Amino acid sequence: MSTTSADDLREEVRRRYAESALAVSDGGLGCGSGSCCDGETDASSFGGALYDAGQRGELPATATLASLGCGNPTAVAELREGETVLDLGSGGGIDVILSAKRVGETGLAYGLDMTDEMLALAQRNAQEAGVRNAIFLKGVIEEIPLPAGSIDVVISNCVINLSTDKPAVLTEIARVLRPGGRIGISDVVAEDRLSSEERGERGSFVGCIAGALSVSEYEAGLEAAGFERISVELTHEVADGMHGAIVKAVKAR
Ligand SMILES: C[S@@+](CC[C@H](N)C(=O)[O-])C[C@H]1O[C@@H](n2cnc3c(N)ncnc32)[C@H](O)[C@@H]1O
Repeated sequence: MSTTSADDLREEVRRRYAESALAVSDGGLGCGSGSCCDGETDASSFGGALYDAGQRGELPATATLASLGCGNPTAVAELREGETVLDLGSGGGIDVILSAKRVGETGLAYGLDMTDEMLALAQRNAQEAGVRNAIFLKGVIEEIPLPAGSIDVVISNCVINLSTDKPAVLTEIARVLRPGGRIGISDVVAEDRLSSEERGERGSFVGCIAGALSVSEYEAGLEAAGFERISVELTHEVADGMHGAIVKAVKAR
């Protein structure tokens, strides 16, 4: 992809998710036009419906309404007291708030997002949830603004498919994780049989479909970045041959 078209695409993603954040702040739903759950796909496959009632009860209403994910990474990441967690593309903050509660006062949850409107919404939600061990950072997931080896667990919910440089994201995840650190990521993933063109026919890039990696591309990318014990588990179909998936791996020691 040329630099200009990658920059244009990232700007379109930023603009669409800024609109979603503003819609929630105005009392509406985050699933606005062009977002991951805008009707190109089955709405029950995205957002707050993927969290159980107990988890939703821990959250301010606007955090649940702002949820635009395609899974529930906090349910698979097995977070422990005292750990440091990083959520890539933290949006309205739902997974950062839940993670901060799981790791407790001796742990820390970072959220990283490039969209000012999402960061402002997430800050308000974390404050309303009474969470004090959450820090929201502005930046892009292709250049994570944190030191090497500083994170125990990286989570992410429906964001890596939106990146225009996935190898850079996977390399950056490996850099910030401590040796033995792990990932628990929800993302849209394509069956291997679908070409890039066919993925593009199933939905848009900003809608979390066209930019999805296939199962083998994900596995190969993680292996190249230095991960082991890699698993990509397809959990629910969101479009023909495209699935919500749980991606797990451990950084080699
Ligand atoms: C589909 S939403 C998911 C938000 C959140 N993870 C959730 O589950 O509700 C995508 C989020 O990722 C952010 N994002 C997309 N691409 C990004 C990038 N390259 N760097 C940082 N943030 C990005 C957007 O601003 C948006 O908040």
